[in-house]
Amino acid sequence: MSQSDKLNRRDFLRLSGLGVATLFAGPLLSGCTSAEQGTAIPTATTAELEIALQAMRGEVSILPGKATRVWRYQGQVTKGDPASLQTLDSYLGPILRVRRGQRVRIVFTNNLSEQSIVHWHGLHVPDDMDGHPRHAIGPGQTYVYEFQVLNRAGTYWFHPHPHKITGPQVYKGLAGLFLVSDDEEMAAGLPSGEYDIPLIIQDRTFDADNQLLYLPGGMMDQMMGFLGDRILVNGQPDFVLPVATRPYRLRLLNGSNSRIYKLGWEDGTPLMVIATDGGLLEKPVQRSYVVLAPGERVELWVDFSGRPLGSELRLQSLAFAGAEATRMMMGRAPALPNGSEFTVMRVRVERESEEKQALPERLSTIPRYRLEDAVNREKPRAFTLTMQQMLWTINGRTFEMESVAKDEVVKLNTIEVWEFVNQPGSMGMGMMGGMVEEMAHPMHIHGLQFQVIKREVRPEMTANWETVSAGYVDEGWKDTVLVMPGERVRLLLKFEDFTGLYLYHCHNLEHEDLGMMRNYRVTA
Ligand code: C2O
Ligand code: CU
Ligand code: CU
Repeated sequence: MSQSDKLNRRDFLRLSGLGVATLFAGPLLSGCTSAEQGTAIPTATTAELEIALQAMRGEVSILPGKATRVWRYQGQVTKGDPASLQTLDSYLGPILRVRRGQRVRIVFTNNLSEQSIVHWHGLHVPDDMDGHPRHAIGPGQTYVYEFQVLNRAGTYWFHPHPHKITGPQVYKGLAGLFLVSDDEEMAAGLPSGEYDIPLIIQDRTFDADNQLLYLPGGMMDQMMGFLGDRILVNGQPDFVLPVATRPYRLRLLNGSNSRIYKLGWEDGTPLMVIATDGGLLEKPVQRSYVVLAPGERVELWVDFSGRPLGSELRLQSLAFAGAEATRMMMGRAPALPNGSEFTVMRVRVERESEEKQALPERLSTIPRYRLEDAVNREKPRAFTLTMQQMLWTINGRTFEMESVAKDEVVKLNTIEVWEFVNQPGSMGMGMMGGMVEEMAHPMHIHGLQFQVIKREVRPEMTANWETVSAGYVDEGWKDTVLVMPGERVRLLLKFEDFTGLYLYHCHNLEHEDLGMMRNYRVTA
């Protein structure tokens, strides 16, 4: 059967409602909140929100002078509330806004010249709705997504996930936000509307003609990960956020291919963190800086009241060590290495506001998984991150499209403890005497949100680690966790509602494209 036959058959199943019936039968009966359990289960397509989404070429003006050729998503609401889709004045976007419990149907058309597929990062959806590379579609083809939004309120996002070309496709501009709201979030009393601002942080390199340059150093750049020399926020360089003298909710996404940010205000004002990847924390936590690795989100509550009109405040990325200890030894050094200090954006106080809003003391409820409930508590499932034969590997393996190893099979409705181990030298020598193994890996697991319960670092690697460790926010739900060199990070995760094949991988997109990705299978 040819690729297009398969696609046609799959689409036919979807369109005829057959696929949808099976899709909605399982999850709704088991894993939802009490509010949802009373809802009747639909047996056919009843999406309240329908969106046509295409990936296409475009041109946007980013720098003065010539427009930049980009790839971008373009969306349109074909059924439901038009406010569910918001465009950004950028190659980025759109922003999709949905409610928990809502049934959505997204018809994705690939108008690019190569294969692609959309992945909903952080969402808990059936495996054939998750945008696995095995579901990639060719130019001109369409993939229909249909799922119910089961996730709690939070800042989720979407981006391409085709085999070996995720990095370049995201780099060219393909990424958008998937913002979920729910009753719990509404009750928390956070700044909303124009005071709720998404900020997508990325880095890019432009050539003299204002065009995007990807991996100019070839294979070496790919092994380390792309690092651009310009910082863009919401697709714009030298980004300035105009604000009023009142509190804001800032939703930060690190949408960069491989750059890690250590975010802090220039004047040392502490950051008040209210949410992580999987939504609101139980209560706000304060940090002097926050570390945000590729794929991660963090939400801040920031009060600009009391700041003088016309004043500016810089959001900096502060210096840190160890994320790419060995790049220098490999030859070409990037203009702006990981860990160098630079300005991410400026905030300018442009308007007086009398509006007061207090920072809520409680934000949400997070049920805690317990280690003693993990089926493998005696022997955590360990995933060792190393470089072998110029490829990044997980437990010595690189990506295979359909297969899973014995130690990558888990059981539905169980809690497990997983460990990501980034301890160079532990698996024998990599190239250059193991030196190249010293890299940070932001590890991402598809299909669920997990809880980080423990971090350990090798004593001899503590000094570098301590330049970032106070910036971790492990208090909330996570789908991506930074594992620094020397570190061993322990997670609790639960496999619920869906069986099937899901990915886990490094969200350094060049590492991912080089094979630092594997499947895990949830079995009944
Ligand atoms: Cu954000 Cu598998 O990715
Ligand atoms: Cu993901
Ligand atoms: Cu990596």
